[in-house]
Amino acid sequence: MDSLLLRDDQSRSPEDRPRPDRSRTDCPVLLSQRLVLRSPHVEDIDALAHLANNAAIATMVSRMPHPYTAKDAADFVRRTNIGEIGKCVYAITKAENGEFLGCCALEPHAADEDTLEMGYWLGEPYWNRGYATEAAHALIDMAFRTRDIARIDARCRVTNIASRRVIQKCGFQFQGSGMVGNLAMGGMVPVEWYRLDRKTWLSLKSWGEMR
Ligand SMILES: CC(C)(COP(=O)(O)OP(=O)(O)OC[C@H]1O[C@@H](n2cnc3c(N)ncnc32)[C@H](O)[C@@H]1OP(=O)(O)O)[C@@H](O)C(=O)NCCC(=O)NCCS
Repeated sequence: MDSLLLRDDQSRSPEDRPRPDRSRTDCPVLLSQRLVLRSPHVEDIDALAHLANNAAIATMVSRMPHPYTAKDAADFVRRTNIGEIGKCVYAITKAENGEFLGCCALEPHAADEDTLEMGYWLGEPYWNRGYATEAAHALIDMAFRTRDIARIDARCRVTNIASRRVIQKCGFQFQGSGMVGNLAMGGMVPVEWYRLDRKTWLSLKSWGEMR
């Protein structure tokens, strides 16, 4: 989740800061069996600050500060709402009661407009109930249905068994490994790189229909 949960970079001149993008119509609210994925709200700040202040999460995503403060959460919500962090950042919430569970996002690839990068995290109390996989399925379906993209990439630390499993359950295929920066770890960490291309997604979607 490269562009998620960045602190404000006040050192950059206004010209160098990301241009706000208010056209969020390409990120519709997403519904799944148990979840609603919607843009982060001010009302999420307390739960976000509480859940994100967890080294077990921060050390697994690229740019989450740790410790994570209420100010970080407020900055995150404000900046996602004006389009400064990512083009498509979602709060993952429970459909039955609106409870905030975590975040997921799709980011454009820096050098390839046909590729999006997917990221996600959930508060630790909600792990291992299939929520991340359910959110990722909704995100992937939306991306391939509404955008003219060829593929979605996902990366996880080599030590991240749960995320690797989510990636596998979404049909991604292993591409290679490498090193990426990790803010909470203060350096580079080894990661695995996975990819889901449009034809594989279409094949997975039609497999059930052919029975
Ligand atoms: C990664 C993360 C989002 C997964 O969320 P989740 O809702 O628990 O994921 P799911 O329940 O959909 O799937 C998790 C899978 O990992 C498996 N798993 C989790 N821990 C495991 C372990 N230690 N050993 C083996 N399998 C494990 C679960 O059994 C499940 O697989 P299954 O459905 O085949 O049984 C969550 O753990 C998280 O937020 N971690 C910290 C942040 C992070 O890693 N984000 C991703 C960065 S790439």
